[in-house]
Amino acid sequence: MTTDRALAQSHNNVQKGRRRIALIPGDGVGLEVVPAAERVLAALGLGLEFVRLDAGWETFRREGNALPEATLAALRQCDGALFGAVSSPSQRTPGYSSPILGMRKALDLYGNLRPAQSAPVDGCAPGVDLLIVRENTECLYVKQERLEQDGRRAVAERVITAEASQRIARLAFEQARLRREARDGVGRSLVTVVHKANVLAVSDGLFREACLAVAQAYPDVEVEEQLVDSMAYRLVREPQRYDVVVAPNLYGDILSDVAAALTGGLGIAPSANVGDRFVLAEPVHGSAPDIAGQGVANPVAAIRSAALLLGYLGEHEAAGAVEGAVRRALQKGAATRDMGGALGTDEMTAAVLAELG
Ligand code: NAI
Ligand code: MG
Repeated sequence: MTTDRALAQSHNNVQKGRRRIALIPGDGVGLEVVPAAERVLAALGLGLEFVRLDAGWETFRREGNALPEATLAALRQCDGALFGAVSSPSQRTPGYSSPILGMRKALDLYGNLRPAQSAPVDGCAPGVDLLIVRENTECLYVKQERLEQDGRRAVAERVITAEASQRIARLAFEQARLRREARDGVGRSLVTVVHKANVLAVSDGLFREACLAVAQAYPDVEVEEQLVDSMAYRLVREPQRYDVVVAPNLYGDILSDVAAALTGGLGIAPSANVGDRFVLAEPVHGSAPDIAGQGVANPVAAIRSAALLLGYLGEHEAAGAVEGAVRRALQKGAATRDMGGALGTDEMTAAVLAELG
């Protein structure tokens, strides 16, 4: 809710008329949860046009490219995209590179927004409502790795730039403002800057300085800093105290899985990759090969990701309706296996659709 309104502000190029949404299921449970989210999107009666596109490991095996040029070209003709997940080979595979990283780069999706809110689900921490803003383009994800000394020494480069750090910080502070607006000004607005500058004084030092410099332009938002290890600790101990958390790529990746665990699990955790002109929403989870193809994957993370996508497109009412339907379905006890329940993917989707009315 708060996040989607914020997203829409940065999205100036939404065309009027029929919106074209790319659906990229990918691999594994992506093939099950994206069609489930499509059913929910279609039920809203917004006249969305869906375009199915290929990417992922199976695409690589078929075509020798995990992110075909045709997929990228078609994506550029869309207003936004919903992505499932892809399987990545655990060993280096010549010619293979991650399509999600490729899409983030090609479409300049520099921020990854991962909201975590308490859900009416067993084991969920109460009163949590935070947003992790993860830098999405650099850090260790530049994947500059090499072996030295006859393979006895491995080196990975970690890149942090002032420009990327400033723009992710601006996104975080804007989000803090918009979240406060959505709360009608109630509550504290806080941006927590996560780093490890006591050890990585140069790279995390640059990230930290960029964030604190941007903070000057937002005197109405409190800022604090937290070392990533103590952040992990405090996030588990008192998740309720956080509002917006901004972090370099890897820390954000890890902390958002922690936040997901605290607020109902990977099966229901959504995210959105955003740039200034495009959004690619995706569940936080991966392709879950252990349960793929069994019809038991939880579709809620994908459905809630679709709600984030709608918000970015300015469809706040529809986004709120989807979030509300999910919440009511969960409140009534609808649960898939990962949540301790017995519903399959289709039944869970039906439970959400029933609440949509
Ligand atoms: P994972 O997120 O696929 O699975 C972790 C655990 O959560 C598994 O026990 C799985 O069964 C469960 N889980 C995940 N999604 C679920 C859902 N919708 N419903 C119920 N249970 C669910 O992470 P893992 O096992 O580390 O990675 C599997 C594959 O996914 C790997 O190839 C990895 O590279 C890829 N991956 C892809 C991502 C992406 O496309 N953005 C993100 C994370 C992993
Ligand atoms: Mg992850």
